[in-house]
Amino acid sequence: MADPKKLFIKTYGCQMNVYDSERMAEAMGADGYVLTEAAEDADMVLINTCHIREKASEKLFSDLGRLKPLKQAKPGLKIGVAGCVAQAEGDEILRRMPLVDLVVGPQAYHRLPEMARSTGQQVDTDFPVEMKFDRLPERKTHRGPTAFLTVQEGCDKFCAFCVVPYTRGAEVSRPVDRILTEARGLVERGVRDITLLGQNVNAYHGAGQNGDYGLARLLREMAGIDGLERLRYTTSHPNDMDDDLIAAHGDLPQLMPYLHLPVQSGSDRILKAMNRKHSAADYLHLVERIRAARPDILLSSDFIVGFPGETDEDHAATLDLIRAVGFGAAFSFKYSARPGTPAAEKPELPEDITNARLYELQALVTSQQRAAQEAMVGREVGVLYEKPGRTAGQMVGKSDHLHAVHVDDPTGKVGELVRVRISAAVTNSLAGERLN
Ligand code: 5AD
Ligand code: SF4
Repeated sequence: MADPKKLFIKTYGCQMNVYDSERMAEAMGADGYVLTEAAEDADMVLINTCHIREKASEKLFSDLGRLKPLKQAKPGLKIGVAGCVAQAEGDEILRRMPLVDLVVGPQAYHRLPEMARSTGQQVDTDFPVEMKFDRLPERKTHRGPTAFLTVQEGCDKFCAFCVVPYTRGAEVSRPVDRILTEARGLVERGVRDITLLGQNVNAYHGAGQNGDYGLARLLREMAGIDGLERLRYTTSHPNDMDDDLIAAHGDLPQLMPYLHLPVQSGSDRILKAMNRKHSAADYLHLVERIRAARPDILLSSDFIVGFPGETDEDHAATLDLIRAVGFGAAFSFKYSARPGTPAAEKPELPEDITNARLYELQALVTSQQRAAQEAMVGREVGVLYEKPGRTAGQMVGKSDHLHAVHVDDPTGKVGELVRVRISAAVTNSLAGERLN
């Protein structure tokens, strides 16, 4: 038998891209490709791109530049560009980079094997009526105790800074039975922790046997799957946190006490300019309700610093909101004008101002992150082992609160869910002792 063809995938951007890369690898696997860790060995290189900020987009062209010598040495090498830059730039990528063979947008991944079999340059950035998920093969090669599962794609919110509504299209939710089938298949393969994904995951409204399901109802169905011990979901919009979903945090033991709930800014003026449709007070009130349902929940958020028109007072209001909430983690980004978005029409702030504000905001959230880690010391938490640690006899996994935890456990196995007493907070992770 001939050697299998080798596929190298590089993934940028969000967790949804990580999930998509896995599904593309499975689709190509059904066509005889196996994954390789080295681009030099590959018969096909696929770059799964992100368009969310300018820096993320630029990576594609520097990566493609680096592939030039490989392609010259191996003319049969196929080079593909997937993801949101593929969607946004389409043919333009082929024009700028003739070494690219295929450009495939996020809604057309089921067509990838067929495109790879064809000769000549191929582009597919359509938004077909049928969902790609219905055409992709089962997840027979997934490894490890944790998995992502996309339940919803696209966004109808049109925040003024964001390209997602243009690159990923309108909100679409997968039907409940497909999601449950995929989840059961993953559990059969040893998965115990599933994170439901969507650009606007809490806007999920999928068709089920007994009518329309919101995210809370979907989570309740998932909680009924034997062997599925942990559930998470990301990313959520504050305006879609309905009563049922908040209640689920209180009454579903499988739903883990960690929630990523981006607020972007703490200034009502900027929130309005961002078209967020909620105020800082709305967010604080929501946080109160979520904490009333699940007091030990850790919250994380995204912040954009230096949005057009942001003043020192607006920035101070963001810092006030951060102090008022106390986040367990936070991601902060310098505003990056994205072509085609309404905010891109507005004049940008001087870079030194944005840099100084980012520095100040990051110092604050880092101190909160440390405080949240230190508050775990002495507590008993669940830890799902994901891999052996760097030192012999050590296992590493995630706690219920999504902290990385190192445990000395020479007999520990990947996939075990154990009780751990946290003994120390070290940089970016925790250490603990196994209790059971
Ligand atoms: N500039 C900077 N950050 C952005 N994000 C989205 N669009 C932009 C942009 N144009 C951030 C938001 C979002 C996260 C995924 O990326 O904070 O929540
Ligand atoms: Fe990047 Fe957003 Fe596309 Fe994810 S959905 S790849 S974060 S632009």
